[in-house]
Amino acid sequence: METVNTKSQKSETQSAFDDVTTKRVVGMWNRTLLPERHKSAAKEVYDQADRDSMWFVTLEYLTNRVCNKGSIFILTGKRGVGKTQMAACLARLVCLGQRDAHYLRAADLYLCIKSTFDGDGSETGLINQWSVKPTGSNNGCQLLIIDELHDRSGSNWEDRILNQIVDRRYGNCLDTVLITNETRPNIAKTIGPSIVSRADETGGIIECLWDSFRSP
Ligand SMILES: Nc1ncnc2c1ncn2[C@@H]1O[C@H](COP(=O)(O)OP(=O)(O)OP(=O)(O)O)[C@@H](O)[C@H]1O
Ligand SMILES: [Mg+2]
Repeated sequence: METVNTKSQKSETQSAFDDVTTKRVVGMWNRTLLPERHKSAAKEVYDQADRDSMWFVTLEYLTNRVCNKGSIFILTGKRGVGKTQMAACLARLVCLGQRDAHYLRAADLYLCIKSTFDGDGSETGLINQWSVKPTGSNNGCQLLIIDELHDRSGSNWEDRILNQIVDRRYGNCLDTVLITNETRPNIAKTIGPSIVSRADETGGIIECLWDSFRSP
């Protein structure tokens, strides 16, 4: 009788724990701000991807290295090779591991920061939100994905903001994935030597050289 009670207590505790965990993971996934297209396709694309394809091998490579060490990866390649989708699949795996992941297009990042200029927020507050180590009271952002980095004017202000966020994340051992369509030789020029140097140390530039998934 006692054994039965203990067992059922254990299973109740376990299922309560599982419920909390599931809610936590779903909450994290809902807060990623990923584009709906890539978010809704993430599970299916991941499950059905050819395990030997360069796309999947690259995703696995990233998954194994994005683990709270302040890694910086620069993902580059032509249009349609699945960079954003790969980032969405990576974010899903990070959330399943109960860590927060956030997605931002570069242009939206700058728009968010500019919106603080009207006095309804602070630039530093936003930069902190994207680069401060999570604590008990703050979810933080274990993985930050900044997409469409080619879509910037490249002004000094934009460069300075990007450097601040990426350097603070590097310092705080938070992982960052930067995505651009730029060719490798142009990356140091446009993303800047400071970020490229940190990426060389912790992650690297990954070129997606396979065919577009959008090709007929
Ligand atoms: N491994 C995959 N298997 C099947 N479909 C995929 C895969 N990766 C991406 N796709 C699909 O291909 C399309 C293009 O992918 P995605 O938008 O990620 O490309 P991209 O490299 O980010 O392109 P762009 O540079 O134009 O932003 C999307 O509809 C996406 O869901
Ligand atoms: Mg994309």
